[in-house]
Amino acid sequence: MANDTLSVTDNRTGKKYELKIENGCIRAMDLRGMKVDAEDFGLMAYDPAFMNTANCKSAITFIDGDKGILEYRGYPIDQLAEKSTHLETSYLLMNGELPTKPQLDEFVTKITHHTYVHENIKQFMDGFRYDAHPMSMLASTVAALSSFYPEAKQVKNKEVRRNQMMRLIAKMPTLAAFSYRHSQGLPYIYPNNDLSYTENFLTMVKSIGKPNWRPHPALVRALDVLFILHADHEQNCSTTSVRVVGSSEVDPYSAVAAGITALYGPLHGGANEAVLRMLREIGDKKNVPEFIKKVKDKDGDKKLMGFGHRVYKNYDPRAKVIKKACDEVFEVTGKNPLLDIAVELERIALQDDYFVQRKLYPNVDFYSGLIYEAMGFPMEFFTCLFAIPRTVGWVTQFEEMITDNEQKIARPRQIFTGPKKRDYVPTEKR
Ligand code: ACO
Repeated sequence: MANDTLSVTDNRTGKKYELKIENGCIRAMDLRGMKVDAEDFGLMAYDPAFMNTANCKSAITFIDGDKGILEYRGYPIDQLAEKSTHLETSYLLMNGELPTKPQLDEFVTKITHHTYVHENIKQFMDGFRYDAHPMSMLASTVAALSSFYPEAKQVKNKEVRRNQMMRLIAKMPTLAAFSYRHSQGLPYIYPNNDLSYTENFLTMVKSIGKPNWRPHPALVRALDVLFILHADHEQNCSTTSVRVVGSSEVDPYSAVAAGITALYGPLHGGANEAVLRMLREIGDKKNVPEFIKKVKDKDGDKKLMGFGHRVYKNYDPRAKVIKKACDEVFEVTGKNPLLDIAVELERIALQDDYFVQRKLYPNVDFYSGLIYEAMGFPMEFFTCLFAIPRTVGWVTQFEEMITDNEQKIARPRQIFTGPKKRDYVPTEKR
């Protein structure tokens, strides 16, 4: 008997089956042949929230959650954060290898020349209420881009597809900046092709009244590092949304818009906003033990936001880099007073049995909000700062899915728990 198989006895029938094990997985479809009788649909796997189901094979990002390892195309995240730029990392994610100098130059030039958006987009933005959340604006305008590029529907055509991928990476900072400016009642600033990706973004967001204003280089670098850390994270909620929506072969703008809306939720990209609200609520270092008590209270509904992760059961490697980046940013901006509360929360939580036993560690969102706030971004904008760099991850995963022969339109099964067939009763008889 081959070793890489799983022997199963179906005790309902006494029948024995041998399932192939490949890459540490059995194929869920192999269960289908296990039937009680010919009428039986066959066995299924029940896995709400995909806790233990691999939805794809992927060569992009590797995570070992127990060891706290994150690698893009084999390169450790801390090395990329220290040595790379967001656009170089984007090239790596999209193409599988680090670029040569001419390849990188060409890539940067292409991205830079796609940063402008159609003038109608500005009018589209103007249609939002003055207090619209920037993530709602971003999601809607990205979906709207699909109407500007009808050729984007040709998802199987590599050249056309790649064009849209570049456009999305290039235009996301412009759209995010426009949504910020709209929410602040400020005029939109056009992209400047002489600036780097991140410097251009910060300039479009922050520049007021001084055409030659430029952000502090240390802040540009810190934000670029944060962009690298957020570029991809394998099959998380938003990426899975992009893959699922994209599996219908819709254009990448529509699929990425779905990713943005998934990211908006407080359990995903919205967590850094929630962390700041939590730190404000705590208000002072001395209130930390009381807050931790409330979090541990089973009858309460408080969570320690920015802690815990579906995959990491160790310190999130991105949180380590961000904690270091805090110092560099605070040197320029002055210390965010909430940092002391965060550090105290982490210190107490990491030695508390509740968190230790559940392997709850700070995740990427625990410290990122503090940096964003110190840089002068309002809380509502934090998730946009996540969506910009994640765009390369979304489009790369979209492409991997669309070119994978094993993929089909995503369509899970269900266990039906509702009433079985019954006859309609007229209103007067109910
Ligand atoms: N605070 C307190 N308790 C927690 C927390 C937390 N932040 N996270 C998990 N737990 C507890 C759960 O109550 C549960 O306890 P129990 O076993 O006694 O019932 C146990 O730890 C396991 O938690 P699950 O909810 O099963 O973990 P899951 O993998 O489903 O959730 C999640 C992961 C959503 C990230 C969760 O940890 C959470 O809500 N964290 C706070 C929000 C957050 O920071 N999200 C950002 C994630 S990173 C990102 O998206 C970029």
